[in-house]
Amino acid sequence: MTDQRPYRSVLYIPGSKPRALEKAKTLPVDAIIFDLEDAVSADEKEAARATLAEALRAGGYGARVKIVRINGLDTKGGKDDAKAVAQMAPDAVLLPKVDSPKDLDALSKLTGGLPLWAMMETPLAMLNAAQISAHPQLAGMVMGTNDLAKELQSRFRSDRLPLMAGLGLCVLAAKANGIIIVDGVYNAFKDDAGLKVECDQGRDMGFDGKTLIHPAQVDIANTAFAPSEEEIDLARRQIAAFEEVEATGQGVAVVDGKIVENLHVVTAQQILSKAKAIAAMAEV
Ligand code: COA
Ligand code: MG
Repeated sequence: MTDQRPYRSVLYIPGSKPRALEKAKTLPVDAIIFDLEDAVSADEKEAARATLAEALRAGGYGARVKIVRINGLDTKGGKDDAKAVAQMAPDAVLLPKVDSPKDLDALSKLTGGLPLWAMMETPLAMLNAAQISAHPQLAGMVMGTNDLAKELQSRFRSDRLPLMAGLGLCVLAAKANGIIIVDGVYNAFKDDAGLKVECDQGRDMGFDGKTLIHPAQVDIANTAFAPSEEEIDLARRQIAAFEEVEATGQGVAVVDGKIVENLHVVTAQQILSKAKAIAAMAEV
């Protein structure tokens, strides 16, 4: 069954930074990616693994989903990360640069039954997205837009046209298999307006949320990926109107000049469930 928890804001935290590990306990994020890969320099990797293990053992992250990103299994330390993560017992382990489902098989041999997440950030991953997302242990996908842009040798555009084929394929693959999918990071962490545009675009496409690099980005993502007051109000009115016509034996209602059929009611119910899950998150 699809994970019903909210994933509006998914914050990367370098596993090597105790201050940031502490700070995250106070931030209203839905999920955390504790990073052992690119946010940690080569000479800090060993220490980061120990720092992170201790932080997770001590706990204090509340209802936030805890995901650990390890180094690639073909890189130095990757296999040791995987074995260590199995002991840390987070909610999931995130593998970088997944190219095919075989990469996930190799990981699960080391991490056992722990749910798997995949970084989608290579051209091959975009082309294999359907097979990757169908892996039985995969629970979520994260767009790695910086690596993807690097591989494509594309340029940054605020409309993300060069990345759109890949983003679209990955959204289709995730939805076809009922797993979570979160969008890539917005590098300019002081540019609130640019972040909002990119969050709104991701939300419009169907992403569950956005990966973030800095606490200043959290509120913008939380707002963009939550149902708005208007959406909640419309959903309630659609459900009520449909129930009313259904009672008279009809299958179509009209709200604000637009038809409401059974399928729109399903969307409306999903909006209300998401709003409820977000409210529950705030209470923890
Ligand atoms: N998670 C949690 N806390 C964070 C954080 C993060 N990603 N980034 C910064 N903070 C904390 C800082 O520790 C600091 O806390 P304090 O008030 O207790 O001192 C506070 O937020 C303000 O930080 P600030 O001084 O504005 O940022 P910085 O200069 O220390 O760091 C970055 C800026 C970009 C280097 C840092 O945000 C970072 O490392 N982000 C993650 C990068 C990453 O994970 N990349 C890999 C995936 S793309
Ligand atoms: Mg990457």
